[in-house]
Amino acid sequence: MEEGIRPILELSGLTINFGGNIAVNEVTIKVQAYQFVSLIGPNGAGKTTLFNLISGQYQSTSGAIFLKGKEITEFGVAETAQFGIGRSFQLASYYPNLTVLENVCLAIQILKKKSWVFWKRTSDFPEFEDQAYEILKSVLLADKWNHSAATLSHGEQRKLEIAILLGMDPEIMLLDEPTAGMSIEEVPAILDLLEALRDKRDRTILLVEHKIDMVIRLSDKIAVLQEGRLIAYDDPQKIMENKQVQAAYLGKAYEG
Ligand SMILES: Nc1ncnc2c1ncn2[C@@H]1O[C@H](COP(=O)(O)OP(=O)(O)OP(=O)(O)O)[C@@H](O)[C@H]1O
Ligand SMILES: [Mg+2]
Repeated sequence: MEEGIRPILELSGLTINFGGNIAVNEVTIKVQAYQFVSLIGPNGAGKTTLFNLISGQYQSTSGAIFLKGKEITEFGVAETAQFGIGRSFQLASYYPNLTVLENVCLAIQILKKKSWVFWKRTSDFPEFEDQAYEILKSVLLADKWNHSAATLSHGEQRKLEIAILLGMDPEIMLLDEPTAGMSIEEVPAILDLLEALRDKRDRTILLVEHKIDMVIRLSDKIAVLQEGRLIAYDDPQKIMENKQVQAAYLGKAYEG
């Protein structure tokens, strides 16, 4: 059924070799627009590296990346961002000395292409504050709007990162372990948020996550990486039933 629809994102034989360590090995995959696709696999499988390739942090050794049919293989971070790819990082990526609201205002301002170099205070851009506050409400962080970002808990930091991404309004959102470092009580709120984002069906979401229950609940499709190779790409049910996946990843995850 999906044949014939042009994918929003296409990776073709994508490979990166770090001095003999092939972190991503001949990955070929098509992601349809507005789908929620999760990327799973053991530690070191190449998930973050694949995100780094898609978002232009790293340049591939071989292979190609297409966004809506346009080749973006050699694009850097600024160019991929301009073309609608936004990502969060496994580690924190926000301005700790700014308030929560200011961080989101800054993201919106970048989207509007007013140079951040000249940015000083949110009061310079009051028009962004209402929008930023609405985004903070959607990630359940509005009550902390005037707190310094440095004072947030791990869970709140992840919410802020998602808010920053939403401020940038990317067509394709790459989320690398948004619940990493969170306390168990904080996870359901993020899960609900991701589910709400998915249900809007107004952007494509790629998620890297080790919490398999969360991945199964959220994903239209799951891609499984093992030692840099894509070993399966299917709907959650089929992934769970896949013997190779069970051996490579799920067995280990459940044992752990
Ligand atoms: N800049 C780099 N230089 C050299 N090797 C790298 C670099 N970035 C990643 N690697 C290697 O690529 C491999 C894949 O790492 P990656 O961080 O993508 O794994 P991951 O699937 O995200 O793991 P995790 O679940 O632990 O986050 C590892 O062997 C790692 O050491
Ligand atoms: Mg990683």
